Amino acid sequence: MRAISVKEVSKLKGNIEIQGSKNTVLPIMAATLLSSGVSVIYNCPDIDDVAVMCQLLACLHVKTNRVGNTLTIDTREAAYEPLPLSLTGKLRSSVLLLGPILARWGKARIGMPGGCAIGLRPVDIHLEGFMKMNVDIRLHRDILDCSTFHLQGCEYHLRFPSVGATENLIMAAVGARGRTILRGAAKEPEIVELCNYLLAMGALIEGVGTDVLIIKGTDVLTSCDYCNVYDRIVAGTYLLMAAAIPSDITLTGIDDIHYMKNIIKVASQIGVSVVKMENCLHVQSFGKVDGGDFETGIYPEFPTDLQPVLVAVLAKAKKDSSVTERVFEKRFGIVRELEKLGADITVKGQRAEIKGNTELYGHTLKAADLRQGAALVVAGLFSRGYTTVTNISYIERGYEDIVRDLQCVGAEIAYV
Ligand code: EPZ
Repeated sequence: MRAISVKEVSKLKGNIEIQGSKNTVLPIMAATLLSSGVSVIYNCPDIDDVAVMCQLLACLHVKTNRVGNTLTIDTREAAYEPLPLSLTGKLRSSVLLLGPILARWGKARIGMPGGCAIGLRPVDIHLEGFMKMNVDIRLHRDILDCSTFHLQGCEYHLRFPSVGATENLIMAAVGARGRTILRGAAKEPEIVELCNYLLAMGALIEGVGTDVLIIKGTDVLTSCDYCNVYDRIVAGTYLLMAAAIPSDITLTGIDDIHYMKNIIKVASQIGVSVVKMENCLHVQSFGKVDGGDFETGIYPEFPTDLQPVLVAVLAKAKKDSSVTERVFEKRFGIVRELEKLGADITVKGQRAEIKGNTELYGHTLKAADLRQGAALVVAGLFSRGYTTVTNISYIERGYEDIVRDLQCVGAEIAYV
């Protein structure tokens, strides 16, 4: 089993090129199914989740071809097939194929999605929305059997602004008859990117970036290319990391910081100086973490995906801190591993209380999900001696090469 070994570092200096966004590109890959043609996706991260999405598309006779970070998707010979649980179970975003498959073929037999174990992660909001669109759904032994005579536009109020359900229902609605109104929709940047991509394909969507989306169905969508945005969570990982280690680093490939406002705000509160320059962020710190009380939330609040990194960094703070998790009900998997380093953290329900002024000592740690795994690697950079992180396949689902990135800023880190 591969692992990452990381040594405590006294200073970080250099440039990290920020990869393209995972959570933007996965729904856009699914959306290519809505037309018959060839789409080119630029700045597509070379990560395991994208590779699995390519395998899922291949089941539907879609051809994909990667050259560097350019992914070409050819849906001209796409044909309906059931999607096996053995593949859908590898990826949460496999469920995002449901909307486009129903829009294109009116039927779908698809295994339940997998994904990181960070809570219950049901798909009831997706399914309730599809049922409102006239889809008959049966679940038998983790296989969803869905069929519709034709998708019918509807009015649907999401009980929680689920990112995936909003994406799925938008993609179904662009291929449905009539008008769909989604209220209580998620507003994450990934949804704005998806809507803009669909608009470029010829979809009719109003209210982009708000929680009320009005979508008129159409059957004339044409394939188009997409230039992926940078990954705000990967950028945020390195931004928060800088709080705990004296740093003078540049994060390149960041053209617009609008989507990172609250991440930058929290990084600044814990001691990181961030200056936006042309196509990059210049990040400096003295490596003294200021503690505080923080919470995650739906966009534009601080993202849950960066909560594990924030908790890890706050374990080095000068005073006691707390982090409240407001999106997932079970996402403090980082805590038990940080305790092995010497961190003193108490979890009470959705709130983690983190003791400040603690010395951390390197240890062998186990990644159990994508963001928690990345946070453990980051923690190794400010723990005495050496830290080894095992189960790194989780990290590779979403980070192109965390070892390469951290080597670029002077870390002693390697695959072992
Ligand atoms: C997306 O997951 C992201 N994944 C997640 O990032 C991210 O943590 C999450 O949004 C929240 O921002 C992708 O974009 C591929 P949700 P998603 O549906 O869409 C509950 C990462 O590390 N819920 O907004 O699955 C759910 O249980 C990943 O990159 C229902 O109850 O998230 C959770 O508590 C991890 N019923 C909350 O909503 C549903 O039908 C948010 O989930 C759907 C969701």
